Parts: sequence; C-alpha cells; structure tokens
Amino acid sequence: MPGGSGDQARVAQVSGERALREAIGFEDFRVLAKRRLPRVLFDSIEGGAGEEVTLRANRMAFDQIALRPRQANAPAEVDLSVTLLGDTFRTPVMLAPCGSARIVHPSGELAVARAAAGAGALYVVPHLGGTHCETIRQQTEGPLWYQIYLYGGREIAEPAVRRAWAAGYRTLVVTVDNARTTRARDVRNGFRSLMTKDRMGSVPHLGQLLARPRWLAGFVRDGMPTACPNALYPDGRVMEPGDVAAASQRPDAQFRWNDFDWLRDIWPGALIVKGILTAEDAARAVAHGASGIIVSNHGGRTLDGLEPSLRALAEIVPAVASDFPVLLDSGIRRATDVVKALCLGARAVLLGRPYMFALSYGEAGVTRLLALLDSDLRQTLAALGSASLRDLDLTYIRVPADWQVRSTS
Ligand SMILES: Cc1cc2nc3c(=O)[nH]c(=O)nc-3n(C[C@H](O)[C@H](O)[C@H](O)COP(=O)(O)O)c2cc1C
Repeated sequence: MPGGSGDQARVAQVSGERALREAIGFEDFRVLAKRRLPRVLFDSIEGGAGEEVTLRANRMAFDQIALRPRQANAPAEVDLSVTLLGDTFRTPVMLAPCGSARIVHPSGELAVARAAAGAGALYVVPHLGGTHCETIRQQTEGPLWYQIYLYGGREIAEPAVRRAWAAGYRTLVVTVDNARTTRARDVRNGFRSLMTKDRMGSVPHLGQLLARPRWLAGFVRDGMPTACPNALYPDGRVMEPGDVAAASQRPDAQFRWNDFDWLRDIWPGALIVKGILTAEDAARAVAHGASGIIVSNHGGRTLDGLEPSLRALAEIVPAVASDFPVLLDSGIRRATDVVKALCLGARAVLLGRPYMFALSYGEAGVTRLLALLDSDLRQTLAALGSASLRDLDLTYIRVPADWQVRSTS
C-alpha cells in the first residue's frame, strides 16, 4: 500500500463515497479523515507527544531497513495466517486498542470489530472506548482481546476485567506505558474543553466542529458519546473524559509489576504486556508470567524521545525465548512495514492511526483499509519470494549496522 505526501494522495480530487473506493494507501485515508473530522479530533488522532520526535522516528526506522528478495522464487500461493497463543488468525495485521472510536464515527468500536471480523483480523477492544465491551462481544463474531489501563486504580480495573471475562474475552492486554503527557495540538485545539463539554471553554473552539457539519450531525445524533462505559467507579458512575486526566495521574494508576501479579491472580486467561521497549523489561514481563508482549511506544503519544519501537524490537527478540510471542506496533503504515517487523521477529503487528482514519468512513472505511493491506501483503510476500510469513527472517532484510539483532548464522 503506497504512502506519499498529502499532495500525492489519490483521493485529493475526489469526494464522497467514491473517494473511499479510490483510496489505495495510508495517505489517502489520512486525507479522507482530515476532510471528514473536525481539526480537534483529527489532530488528537494524528498527533504525538512533545515535539513529535518519536512519532517521526517510528516511521524513519522502517525506512532504514531494506528488503532482500529471493528472485525467481515466486510462490504459487501465499499463506498469511499466524498462530498466537493457540489461536490461528487469517492475518498478522491486528487492530490496536484506540479510545475515541465512537467519537470518530457513531458506529465506533462495533464498526471496527465488524470490519476486523470480516478480514479475520484480531481487534483489541479498548478499556476507555465508547461502547460496552459486552455489546461488542455479543454483536460481532471475530477474534477479540480486551485492553486494560489502571486509570483510577485497581478499584476501577477489577470490575472492568471481571466484566470482560464474563463477556467472553480470554486475553487481556495490559497497557503499561500510561504516562499521560500533554500533546501540543490538543491544547491548541481546545481538545479538553470540547471533550468535557465545558461550555465556556469550548466557545473559542466551536468553529472547528461547525466546519464539519456531517460529522457534527452524526455525533449529536449519537448523543455526543464521550463517556467510557467500561470504566465504572465503585458507586456505578461512568468515567467521563473530564475524569480521565485525574484518574490517570493518581499514584495507583501508574503501573507497577505488582499490579501485573495482581492481575494474574484475578484474570484466568492470557496476559499480554503492551508498551515494552527494552530487553530488560521484556525479561521482567517473562519473569512475571506474561503470555506475550507488545513492543510499543504508544505510537509516539506518551513520552517524546522514546526509541522507535521497530528498533526496540530488534533488541528484544534475541533476548527472549524463540517461542515467546512478541508483537509490535507504532508506525505500521503499509505491507512492507509489516514484513520488516516480521523479519525482525515480531509474530504480528498492530495498527492504530491507519484504522482510526479509515473509520471516518465507518465500517466500510476500515474494511477497505484491511482489504488493501491484505492484497498488498500477498503481493509483497510474492515479490520477496516467500510463500509464508513463517519463512520470514533476517535474511530478507538489511538492517543498519548499529542495530542490535540476532545473528543469522
Ligand atoms: C487516537 C488513539 C487512541 C489510543 N488509545 C489507546 C488506548 O485507549 N489504549 C492503549 O493501550 N493504546 C491506545 N493508543 C495507542 C495504540 O494502541 C497504538 O499503540 C498506537 O496507535 C500504534 O501506533 P500507530 O498509531 O503509529 O499505528 C491510542 C492511539 C491513538 C492514535
């Protein structure tokens, strides 16, 4: 799936539903989202922490790796399936937990889950999403994991994970890089006042919403859903966006390994740690009984200056057992990125922003994105001369000399 700059986006001259049919790459979905969503929302999805150094570095890391094909070796068929924790998925491309889907489009998490199910892709349902986790599980067929934060401490997390288990989720993703930082774009656009429906504070920023009447009509019809129905206080109150900042800054919201041990005691299923960036922390996750890890810097949205997750992956994979599942997110935009991560040892990858942008066109948008990635991935594998993802290894890529990777000998 090609990328390119905004000017090169194929959809630039086309409008309406036809634009979605014309979309062929990440940049198209970005442009489509920019057209449909108010600036405050588009920027809050696209933006990163601080000067956005990590956000850019995530992409540059992929560009630093070159592909080494096996020519004249095109396979008759390409197998994209991947097995993780005993389950087989049709694709190694998964959808990362992203709050605020319901604000992007009224069909929100349900649309994401349905599109993922159609593509055979796993979706990690976010704790701070806008749809009840039970509804998503009941109304969709595909593979789902559930993600949890410690925002508000254990008293909010415990009932949430018990609900998720009762609803049928069996794998819990524990996000440990939950340090919330201020994103400059959010401050400029009045994200907080708009999301907390602070009437006076919103006034200077309302023009952004009025400039996207189609989105605004959908948002209003949907009851302006900004609350998090999976995060309930002990008195049954739902966590509102205005509470999230405070809930995330409580001392007991900062994840510690004893919280992981506690989760292991109350969660009977598999536990995956999301947000690991060093070999030392990967070893800790293993020692604490994690079933797998997601190497991630949260798409450059937490602490600016963190290492690109692809480079961290190169360090981590040689440090854990070869059968220990290591997944990766942050910066995946096209099929060749997926392949590069898999060559470095990731078992699967997760997308954040690409599907959030595609969601501006509802389920059809996410379906189109996943279909494009699927066909591009097949083409990429065939062009590399590999029939299966399982064959991918370091011999298919050239990695910068100063990256720490497992020797191929
Ligand atoms: C709008 C948005 C909301 C997010 N919300 C969450 C969340 O609720 N929980 C979480 O663990 N990660 C969250 N993330 C991080 C993603 O799960 C993922 O790590 C990141 O988006 C991957 O990078 P990419 O956007 O470059 O693909 C969010 C990311 C975005 C863009």
